[in-house]
Amino acid sequence: MKAVPDREIEKAVVILRSGGLVAFPTETVYGLGADALNPEAIKKIFAAKGRPQNHPLIVHLADASHLVLWAREIPVAAERLAERFWPGPLTLILRRAERVPDAITGGQDTVGLRVPSHPVAHALLQAFGSGIAAPSANRYGRLSPTTAEHVRAELGGRVDMILDGGSCDFGIESTIVDLSSSQATLLRPGKISASELEKVLGTPVGRPGPRSPRAPGTIAAHYAPQTPLQVVSGKDLAETVRHFSALGKRAAVLAHRHAQIDRANIIWFAAPSQAAAYARELYAKLRRLDQYQYDVILVEQVPEGEEWDAVRDRLAKSAAPRVEI
Ligand code: TXA
Ligand code: MG
Repeated sequence: MKAVPDREIEKAVVILRSGGLVAFPTETVYGLGADALNPEAIKKIFAAKGRPQNHPLIVHLADASHLVLWAREIPVAAERLAERFWPGPLTLILRRAERVPDAITGGQDTVGLRVPSHPVAHALLQAFGSGIAAPSANRYGRLSPTTAEHVRAELGGRVDMILDGGSCDFGIESTIVDLSSSQATLLRPGKISASELEKVLGTPVGRPGPRSPRAPGTIAAHYAPQTPLQVVSGKDLAETVRHFSALGKRAAVLAHRHAQIDRANIIWFAAPSQAAAYARELYAKLRRLDQYQYDVILVEQVPEGEEWDAVRDRLAKSAAPRVEI
């Protein structure tokens, strides 16, 4: 974590008030922020990312007391989760208040809301005094940025200011839970697990179904490096590596164990054995591997167990065949 001087925060607020874009750190990934009540500013987010207009954005708030301004109904479940997990890496989908612009919700009747815990995000939200709409600060479909450098590489001149708060602690995007109907539904796994949510709610949390609200981050071909990525079980890893090597392909391998295969065209990278460390480093690692322009990135399957759910989800999406949508 890196502190940002007050005058930088003040400058960022001026930019947001005048309808500009400010990238800022959160505890999950960097966000690309704009005034959530300014439809013209929100349009710039979509243009900068190259993101389809109907994909809804998360509104970031300084604290839970702002909820009533953005959601027209606050179910007890939302109160409980906010109380327990905010500020933190949890996004709640609630029925939107009337004033929430259509540009934010993609025309849906719901809005995503989150109170981040990163001190720089908090300082910015506090000083701005209203909601900041922010998707991850990457080009559409690409890996989310976890450093200010990544944001520069992704968006460069398309953003008016980048607040550099150092590397993000969690490294993957927030858990999203839909509370807009009577059944709480997990839309995107994150650091906060389904069973942690269930413990607080005292009821089961559903998995996404065909009738759940749209969450495009949950479809294939997101969070993808440019190099083709394949997830391989530990048991098949050595054989797969030999296979690519025999074809004369250059492969980068991200694995828990270093297999005893030394070939000139194969490079091994150590993967952390703890889920939290793995998540923190994942996007930065994939970004680096991408730069080497290997023919393929082979990732050893991560362990079973809920603490790995979010990492497993992002790896599956990184590996999905590219779909043009
Ligand atoms: O950790 C995070 O959530 C980061 C940081 C910057 O806060 N933000 C982030 O935003 O990941 P984005 O736009 O990259 O992903 C937000 C996801 C998208 O999949 C979007 O479809 C979903 O949230 N979403 C937003 N509003 C929604 C809504 N009203 N209903 C269903 N899904 C929604
Ligand atoms: Mg994103």
